[in-house]
Amino acid sequence: MKYFNYKDENLTSENMSIADIATEVQTPFYCYSANAFKNNFNALKNAFKEINPKICYATKSNSNLSILNLLQKEGAGADVVSVGELKKSLIAGIMPHDIVFSGVGKTSDEIEFAIINKIFQINAESTSELNTINKIAQKLGTLQQVGIRINPDVTGKTHENISTGGIGDKFGIPFSEVKNLFLNNEHFENIDISGIAFHIGSQIHDIEPFKKVFQKTGELIKEINKNKQIIKVLDIGGGFGVDYENNQKEFPIEEYAELVKNSFDTKNLTVVIEPGRSISWDTGILVTKVLYIKKHGEKKFIITDCGMNDLMRPALYDGYHKILPLAETKNTEKISTDIVGPICESTDRLFSSNEFYDVKEGDLLAILNSGAYGSSMSSNYNVRPLVDEILIDKDNYNIIRNRQSFEESIAQEIKINKN
Ligand code: LLP
Repeated sequence: MKYFNYKDENLTSENMSIADIATEVQTPFYCYSANAFKNNFNALKNAFKEINPKICYATKSNSNLSILNLLQKEGAGADVVSVGELKKSLIAGIMPHDIVFSGVGKTSDEIEFAIINKIFQINAESTSELNTINKIAQKLGTLQQVGIRINPDVTGKTHENISTGGIGDKFGIPFSEVKNLFLNNEHFENIDISGIAFHIGSQIHDIEPFKKVFQKTGELIKEINKNKQIIKVLDIGGGFGVDYENNQKEFPIEEYAELVKNSFDTKNLTVVIEPGRSISWDTGILVTKVLYIKKHGEKKFIITDCGMNDLMRPALYDGYHKILPLAETKNTEKISTDIVGPICESTDRLFSSNEFYDVKEGDLLAILNSGAYGSSMSSNYNVRPLVDEILIDKDNYNIIRNRQSFEESIAQEIKINKN
């Protein structure tokens, strides 16, 4: 673990003991390290230094305003997929010319907001969307930079729920149609279609699928440029895999950057990357308390005060998140257990282990590597509140999201009085 380690038998990040924070903040809560975000961002920036891309952080992985602001200060732009993410990025101080807007289902209102705010590029995912963007840009009397998100029909080896590059996936415009769109688009007078974008999936470890996409796209760009429709922007998405299970499956980021350099004329292109998980994953933990321990025959359950509404990844993708006690245990006795949440669903299982620590009721646990797609995917299911998020910065911490009150969680509901 890079950013959360035991010091004097206490799980610590930067100079703060997490157990100390838990005396002041109610569990469950998300706890992040500012240094971890900065470090991960700058490691990526460094790996790509020869290309010097726009690094548009995929805000969906963790869109807390303080975190967006922190990354903006390091030089990040934003990849957004809704007007909500776009507004948050702007509030956080990210400049419009550093924002790209992806997603298959942008509404007219969302597109209009993006154009009025002069964002860098909208990545269109269908011909109908191109029509809509053109129409709105015409109404606003402007020329909008657009990228075409291609569907390369190449999938990265990953969980099927997070693969996006296959022809059976809803994303992008089929590769076979793209050339024609680039060569015959004079009727789109208010959009400058000079960008190409792709994103083939998330949590990809293998570089081979990228090689295939780069080769296909490189040839496409040459053909388009030959016909004088110069491609100016190349957005290669994100998806760089991380090592949740600590078995050295690190994504070869330097080799990948080299491959980008060798596959494209990067000197004459604005290259955009959209990393999410690789920046946010190990920056945070979810802190939870053991409520109860019970046995069903031989099977032992540890029941925590957080559940799948707080962290969806185990239930949705069999996501692996190691769990550690906040207080380092010297007790070598190990147990076989399922660590489960309070939600009334059988899939509300956070972790299964044949050799977990023999913890007690009331002990505090850390669910590791929960910085990406943790809080941002949490919900009010079972009428549970969204929890606190805190950010450690050296020997201080700040609350960066307050736990929702019950009243806040139901504030939009209307009770119709029918007698
Ligand atoms: N760009 C686009 C267009 C995307 O759709 C995504 C992720 C990214 C960039 C960032 O991908 P990353 O670098 O984070 O892999 N909830 C799932 C992951 C869904 C990813 C969706 N798109 C999970 O928890 O594993």
